[in-house]
Amino acid sequence: MKIAHLGATGYVGSRVLEEALHRGHEVTVLARNAHTLAARPRLHTLALDLHERSALLDALLDHDALIVTVKSRNFAPHTLIDLLNASGIPRTLVVGGAGSLRTAGGQDLVDTADFPAQWKPEALAARALLQALRDEYELDWRFLSPAAQLMPGARTGTFRLGADELLCDVQGESRISLEDLAVAVLDEIETPRHTRQRFTLAY
Ligand SMILES: NC(=O)c1ccc[n+]([C@@H]2O[C@H](COP(=O)([O-])OP(=O)(O)OC[C@H]3O[C@@H](n4cnc5c(N)ncnc54)[C@H](OP(=O)(O)O)[C@@H]3O)[C@@H](O)[C@H]2O)c1
Repeated sequence: MKIAHLGATGYVGSRVLEEALHRGHEVTVLARNAHTLAARPRLHTLALDLHERSALLDALLDHDALIVTVKSRNFAPHTLIDLLNASGIPRTLVVGGAGSLRTAGGQDLVDTADFPAQWKPEALAARALLQALRDEYELDWRFLSPAAQLMPGARTGTFRLGADELLCDVQGESRISLEDLAVAVLDEIETPRHTRQRFTLAY
């Protein structure tokens, strides 16, 4: 597939980019620092800010899908939604945060007392973006909330998928590796199962 990727130079995005290239996809990286990526087969880079609407619309032409791994607080929901509508990109996956997942206590994780203060602005922005996407009935979007703990680790390919509830293991931990998150992103891009839905993953 020909995939455009906003945010491929970041913490999450760099692993997603690796997985996409590993699977043989053609990837166009759109990031302000796209030029920092080393040249590789099937990798195309365009140095762009996501607010450069007309340049982005040109860049998205002829792509099959868009992956977004930019922090939600860095753009307004309508900026992305306008881009998706105007470009007509056939399929979009947004990686957001775990903060909007519902806990066993019935609250969103971001609203619980122990939620770390430094992550709250991003979690609230991601929840607002998810809500804005949920108001879109024509666009082909999906929103992936990782487990609460997301860190480098193994690419196991073995994890559980869920919907709106925070998935925890028997120790009560909600964990996933960046590598397995990338597997879930590319699985969904290749074979969509969560069109116009939020989904999550964890061990
Ligand atoms: N457990 C969790 O819930 C969890 C944990 C971590 C991350 N996340 C989520 O994962 C997503 C990615 O986070 P991250 O930590 O990977 O972010 P990050 O490391 O800060 O990377 C952000 C990416 O966005 C790009 N970017 C930022 N502003 C841009 C702009 N104006 N125009 C174009 N590109 C821009 C950056 O590229 P340039 O600077 O080159 O433009 C970079 O590639 C976020 O939604 C975050 O909430 C969730």
